[in-house]
Amino acid sequence: MVEKAVETLTEAEARQELSRLAAAIAAANTAYHTLDAPEMSDADYDALKRRNAAIESRFPGLKRADSPSDQVGGAVAEGFGKVAHRVRMLSLENAFAAEEVAEFDDRVRRFLGFPGAVQYTAEPKIDGLSLSLRYERGRLVQAATRGDGEVGENVTENARTISDIPQQLAGAPDVLEVRGEVYMSHADFAALNTRQSASGDKTFANPRNAAAGSLRQLDARITAARPLRFFAYSWGELSQPLAATQLDAIQRLTSLGFQTNPLTVLCAGPQEMLDHYRLIEAQRATLGYDIDGVVYKVNDLALQARLGFRSSTPRWALAHKFPAELAWTELLGIDIQVGRTGALSPVARLRPVTVGGVVVQNATLHNEDYIAGRDSRGEAIRGGKDIRVGDWVQVYRAGDVIPKVADVDLSRRKDTAHPYVFPTECPECGSPAHREEGDSVRRCTGGLICPAQAVERLKHFVSRGAFDIEGLGAKQVEMFFKDPLLPVKTPADIFTLAARDAANPLQKLKNREGFGEVSAAKLFAAIEARRIIPLDRLIFALGIRHVGEVAAGLLARHYSTWEAFEVAVTHATPGSAEWAELNSINGVGEVMAQSLVDAFQNEAERAAIDALAAQLTVQPVQARGVVDSPVAGLIIVFTGTLEKMTRAEAKARAEALGAKVAGSVSAKTDLLVAGPGAGSKAKDAERLGVRTMDEDAWLELIGG
Ligand code: IVH
Repeated sequence: MVEKAVETLTEAEARQELSRLAAAIAAANTAYHTLDAPEMSDADYDALKRRNAAIESRFPGLKRADSPSDQVGGAVAEGFGKVAHRVRMLSLENAFAAEEVAEFDDRVRRFLGFPGAVQYTAEPKIDGLSLSLRYERGRLVQAATRGDGEVGENVTENARTISDIPQQLAGAPDVLEVRGEVYMSHADFAALNTRQSASGDKTFANPRNAAAGSLRQLDARITAARPLRFFAYSWGELSQPLAATQLDAIQRLTSLGFQTNPLTVLCAGPQEMLDHYRLIEAQRATLGYDIDGVVYKVNDLALQARLGFRSSTPRWALAHKFPAELAWTELLGIDIQVGRTGALSPVARLRPVTVGGVVVQNATLHNEDYIAGRDSRGEAIRGGKDIRVGDWVQVYRAGDVIPKVADVDLSRRKDTAHPYVFPTECPECGSPAHREEGDSVRRCTGGLICPAQAVERLKHFVSRGAFDIEGLGAKQVEMFFKDPLLPVKTPADIFTLAARDAANPLQKLKNREGFGEVSAAKLFAAIEARRIIPLDRLIFALGIRHVGEVAAGLLARHYSTWEAFEVAVTHATPGSAEWAELNSINGVGEVMAQSLVDAFQNEAERAAIDALAAQLTVQPVQARGVVDSPVAGLIIVFTGTLEKMTRAEAKARAEALGAKVAGSVSAKTDLLVAGPGAGSKAKDAERLGVRTMDEDAWLELIGG
């Protein structure tokens, strides 16, 4: 059929066309979402929607009540409809300690007045999101999220795209609400994130988030493209009972075509429940999907009914959670990373495992002593157990820091496992890697010759507290480092990039993949803008060992100009006046001073620093002038009521004068400022002999 151009349609033709398009789009939606058998390509589907929108925009009065423009995929664009659950979707009481399992069993038996043993099922607690599926006469009619337990969201179209969810059931009760967990496997999660980052879309922190984000898509076509799975473990409204026991009911769901968890077993009491808990915990890393504990349920459904519910949890079930943020997994290999300062850092490559909701594949092993089972003083750690490739190791994560390997399970060590031999040569450049006396870290001695050190230094150079060049992050630095036409090997090269590009008549940056005229010009402008740089940022950017952001600030405020700083560190050999001055700066110790001097006196380093400085205009930094305030460097605690100013203001004043304000009194406290009503802190100060004064004396001390 040749379509008439929208501009030439009469009103009657437009009305007819809108009706045809609404039907065609609805049919395409059904074919796609419901029957899982798309009839047209995405491009054709989009063309239909565009034509529909164009006609509506020409004849707004003709827009239909069921206009496809108001729908995204199969769902209503405004969000999901609401579903009131006919049987509430409850959550579970949690337990962490083994004793709580016996207490749970006691409570159950006491409630029932049952002297004998009660049987329980034990099964993994899947870390996904719960879903209720309503079947009427064997047909899936509705799927709803848990929501607040009373009212959830209608995600029927999305649920239909999940292959573990049957659309039809044979031999089911007339009304059957099946409940379970939607989740994503580790492998599918990793592949999804790879696809997401390749297409520039956001990646997900963990499989649970990925599953939730995928199920709750307004466009069910997106859900369909996401590999979601479903385990059935419970039920809501039923027109007939499924079975007499929990285990048989789960068995019935299995035969109706649902996936149920194969690690579901029957236990005779707390001992067997704990045994199964340990078994599941040991398998956690190899299951291929996230679980966060084990759920125990009274097996006899008549007893479940007698036990009933508390306000939001059933009395007949318990979730025995795994300890937070700890997991056992296999150590697949040990890689050595070479850092900015040449440190050889061993990194554990792990079989992926979820630790505290995040999939962990790498963890730090600190240094060679740590792998060998020693601390920095040579004393045994972990009872002296070393760590070997192939071992089962315990991984933990505290907050957002890099995961660490905490322990090793010797009972699972293979006979073939060899002690790990830490390299004595840099794996990146082959230079000898030395350990200094008293240092737990082995370092590559290659300096800037080492490509790993060079590239890490560049990454540091462009990082946030340093030059912070927009459009030049770690990824771009790696790219330019290897680039044959526009190589950036040292920081100075960044500032010659534009000139070198201009001088190259062929293959300009703007013609490269990932760049265009605008992005190349933007990058050059961002670099240009950083040619003028404050001294503290420059010192920090040099990436000299022991010189962090705070130290860079201290040095910059002390020397004020690049020239003064450079002259000082060039001449500061131990014993010189410059050395004494450098060491006199509050916050600069001998180790840092030596590190600065080493960097400025090393020929290659010095050449790189000079080449960089030649490209820059360094802005002087004003000394804060607080170094000789009477409270500079003191640790101060305020307590009681302050009458002349608020606590926040007093704290800000003290800090502006170079003091540190602490919340509690310790042996390190230099001064306690105590107002009326001071209590235990004043007593602590007295006990520890900390100097104490009232608010007026304090104000006098700081000059009003
Ligand atoms: S039974 C009335 N079994 O855990 C009890 N829940 O923390 C119904 N969950 O909202 C739940 N795995 O989303 C049950 N094997 C399992 C489970 C499980 C995961 C989830 C479920 C529930 C949450 C409570």
